[in-house]
Amino acid sequence: MTELLFKGATVFTSEGPRDVSVRVSDGVITDVGDIGARGAKVVQADGLYLLPGAIDAHVHSRDPGFPEKEDFGTLTAAAAAGGVTTVIDMPNTVPAVDAAGVLEAKAALARPRARVDFGLWALVRSSSTPDQLRGLAEAGATGVKAYLGYAFSLSRKQVLHSFDSDDPDLESPPDYGTLARLGSILAELDLPLVIHAEDAGVLNTFRRPIESYTDFLDSRPGEAESVAIAAAAAVTRQFGVRLHIAHLSSALGLAAAEDAKAGAASITLETCPHYLWLSESDFARLGTALKINPPVKLAADRAALRDGLKRGAIGLVATDHAPHTDAEKARDLEAAPPGSPGVQTLYLSCLELAREMGDVWRAPRWVSEAPAALVGLGESKGRIAPGYDADLVLVDPHRPTVFSARSMRSRQRHGALEGLRSSFSIRSTYLRGAPVFANGRLAGGATGRLVRPALLKPLTAQ
Ligand code: NCD
Ligand code: ZN
Repeated sequence: MTELLFKGATVFTSEGPRDVSVRVSDGVITDVGDIGARGAKVVQADGLYLLPGAIDAHVHSRDPGFPEKEDFGTLTAAAAAGGVTTVIDMPNTVPAVDAAGVLEAKAALARPRARVDFGLWALVRSSSTPDQLRGLAEAGATGVKAYLGYAFSLSRKQVLHSFDSDDPDLESPPDYGTLARLGSILAELDLPLVIHAEDAGVLNTFRRPIESYTDFLDSRPGEAESVAIAAAAAVTRQFGVRLHIAHLSSALGLAAAEDAKAGAASITLETCPHYLWLSESDFARLGTALKINPPVKLAADRAALRDGLKRGAIGLVATDHAPHTDAEKARDLEAAPPGSPGVQTLYLSCLELAREMGDVWRAPRWVSEAPAALVGLGESKGRIAPGYDADLVLVDPHRPTVFSARSMRSRQRHGALEGLRSSFSIRSTYLRGAPVFANGRLAGGATGRLVRPALLKPLTAQ
């Protein structure tokens, strides 16, 4: 039995911050309180914060499919360095995760590369069947994702950043009809439905050549988001499907989501650090690093999202970590692919924002408790309490960090938050009681496991 005792830190417990010790036995938290060492190895952590590891509910590992952009090794190295102990990976890898066999193969591939735990979202296609979704749930999917407005290449088995549909190789994107057709099976499986909320009709109408950031903004207006959210919620509420809005980016989208919630739809909201920290005026400094779908919008949108987070209307922050190669990002604004890396800066950027809001202890709720509940891990991860996995982060509140490409471990190092200063730094990260990052270096090996929602029994031992 490996016994550890974290001593001297201020601990984020379920009741809030407390100066207590935390005992860990074989990777699980066994005691939180005023406890003695009793044969345990003591981790002296005076002056530090002990926080639950973050669960980044929205990452793109690119694995399998695009090893030049990222793989599970580089993704989870960046995660460990940033205090993220679980990543939930999006299904737009290649082949896209649209059936149980693909999910199982992806899990098998990820396992020997994963430095932190991982869960897998599954893909909803316009052609998905109830049996496919049932199979995906049984294989361990944390939920399903519908890329509204993104076509699917049948030959490449790939989700595309396009909605052209005259090409016979392209299957039309999932739409509100798809959600209506699959609503009852999603409700029965009790899996969250995540949507990329930009309405294809609105995007089509506002299509234009992208020569400036203003063109980019005009091509994907906030109405695309609000229409998609309102329509998806109108469909899913009649079935009782849990609807989760990925990467909320606009004041209009937030208003539509709050209206839908008031109308009794079951809906959870996620936004990302780039929408909380940046606005269009950062394009001059960042260039294509700021090209992300949906776009980072105006300062007024940022203010609305911050306010939504402060009020608790938005409960969860995830990164939409979406790396591309430097060569791809060096293209012009029209041709550069959308997305920015972010997993390594999730916790530190959220701690800084929470500090600015006057309560640093909000951050672990956004990045740990809320995502654990979303993906069915609320009984095992996301809290520092007896019985929970010892996924822990020691944070130094006296040593600031300035985000810089130099210290990033993702394959795309230059992200949208480049240059941002956080008052905090990550001292060390523990996955189920074992260090995966300590004092600036990765530790341990690929000890990450597939996590699956608690309600379903594992099909195979991990
Ligand atoms: C994502 C990607 O690259 O996979 N990019 C992004 O800008 N968020 C896909 C997406 O969600 O649009
Ligand atoms: Zn994404």
